[in-house]
Amino acid sequence: MRLDRFLCESTGLTRSVAKKALHRGDVTVDGLVVKKSDQQINGQEVRLEGRLLVAPGPRYLLLHKPAGYISSTQDEDHPCVLQLLPPELRRGLQCAGRLDVDTTGLLLLTDDGQWSHRLRSPKKACNKVYQVDLSDPLASDVTQRFAEGVELHGEDKATLPATLEVLTPTRVLLTIQEGKYHQVKRMFAAVGNHVMGLHRLQIGDIVLDDSLAPGEWRHLTAEEIASI
Ligand code: URA
Repeated sequence: MRLDRFLCESTGLTRSVAKKALHRGDVTVDGLVVKKSDQQINGQEVRLEGRLLVAPGPRYLLLHKPAGYISSTQDEDHPCVLQLLPPELRRGLQCAGRLDVDTTGLLLLTDDGQWSHRLRSPKKACNKVYQVDLSDPLASDVTQRFAEGVELHGEDKATLPATLEVLTPTRVLLTIQEGKYHQVKRMFAAVGNHVMGLHRLQIGDIVLDDSLAPGEWRHLTAEEIASI
C-alpha cells in the first residue's frame, strides 16, 4: 500500500492533509523521515509526529478481562475494557461477545462486524468454556440436566445441550454453545446453585493464554481469525 493511502486510512486524514504532513517531514517509516507519497508500506513501522500508526484493515484482539471492567460502552460506575488498550488501537473496536462486569477471562474485540456476527451466531455453535466457582457443591443430577437443557427464567426454549467437567465439588468447567444474557449464572440459578466466580477460558479454538495477566492483550493469529 502507498504511504499516503496508509496515512489516510489509519488516521482518517484527507489525502491533501496527509500529503502536507509528508511534505513537512512529520512522517517516519522505520525511524527515517519519508516525504514520498508513493513509498510502498508493507509491515514497516509508520509514525506521524512520533505517534505510531496502526495498519489499516480489520483488527482482532484477545484481552484477558479483569473484574471491574464493562465490555459495553462506558457507564458511570465502571471503566470500559477499551481503556485497557492503547488509544491508537481503540477506534471502531467492539466486543465480540460480552462478559459481565464481575466475569474475568477471554474477551475478543474486533472492528470486523461479520466476523463478530459469525462468532456470536447460534448457528455456528461456537463452544465457550467457562470455569465456574459455585456457592454450593454441585448436585449429582446437574450434569444430566445441563446435557438435556434447562429452562431459564423468562425464556420459552430450553438451553442447548451443555457439558460439565467437575474439578472439585464447587468448581466446574462448563461448555455452552449459546451466549444468552447472564447465561451461566442463570443456568446455575435454574438448578438451585449460585455462581460466585466466573472465568472464560476458551471460545471455539481460541484459548486464553496462561501468560496473559489480567488486563493484558494480544493480536489474534491468522489461524485463530480463520477458525471462526
Ligand atoms: N454467562 C454469564 O452469566 N455471565 C458472563 O459474563 C458470561 C456468561
